[in-house]
Amino acid sequence: MKTPFPHAGRWILGAAGLGLAALSSLSGAESAPAAPVSPPAAKRKAPDVIYVPTPQAVVDKMLEMAEVKAGDVVYDLGCGDGRIVVTAAKKYGVKAVGYDIDPQRVKEARENVKAAGVEHLVRIEEADVFTLDLREASVVTLYLLPALNVRLMPQLAKLKPGSRIVSHNFDMRGAKPVEVKQVSVSPGEGGDALYDEDADHTVYKWIVPWEPELPAR
Ligand SMILES: C[S@@+](CC[C@H](N)C(=O)[O-])C[C@H]1O[C@@H](n2cnc3c(N)ncnc32)[C@H](O)[C@@H]1O
Repeated sequence: MKTPFPHAGRWILGAAGLGLAALSSLSGAESAPAAPVSPPAAKRKAPDVIYVPTPQAVVDKMLEMAEVKAGDVVYDLGCGDGRIVVTAAKKYGVKAVGYDIDPQRVKEARENVKAAGVEHLVRIEEADVFTLDLREASVVTLYLLPALNVRLMPQLAKLKPGSRIVSHNFDMRGAKPVEVKQVSVSPGEGGDALYDEDADHTVYKWIVPWEPELPAR
């Protein structure tokens, strides 16, 4: 199947020891403002995790589980080629912001936003997700790593009550999910051979404020 994202690259998310076979603001304003200027390369922080795209079937499940509805603002933290925010805008007509620290991903995501004709709804920003104020979001999507999800918890805890957080494949230790679903992706589905060996995906969902998860005794 041909991917609807012409700028989906190919990568290996090392994901040290995490069992992965391979992984390589919107401020509520009326329209997406002009793109900010990138910092000089020397000042850039390296990505905390490398790029691996979420298969489209999993993107669809994440947004379905997040119960995206009119008026929501979706943030994807580490947006890669922008597929989650583009899908949120196209399928649900909501505003969305994708943040990525890698200028190449930012460029690709902006091109995909343009190609999808959703520039009026979606903004892509180059930023370190750990510096963001997330309070304007009502839905946050994640495909990072378990330890990075935990690092984001102080920011995520400030989301408005009722906001939804969904994470592809990785939990958030200390926060009990309200829902966990499996998604099977057929080999080649989503247009990426990467998933031939990695067909089972998990989506975790939390609603703010989340219930603390007690450590196993
Ligand atoms: C596994 S990919 C997920 C891409 C996309 N969300 C998806 O699900 O298809 C993780 C992305 O996070 C970005 N990233 C890593 N560390 C980051 C950071 N500190 N701030 C912003 N983006 C980051 C990477 O550049 C990469 O594009």
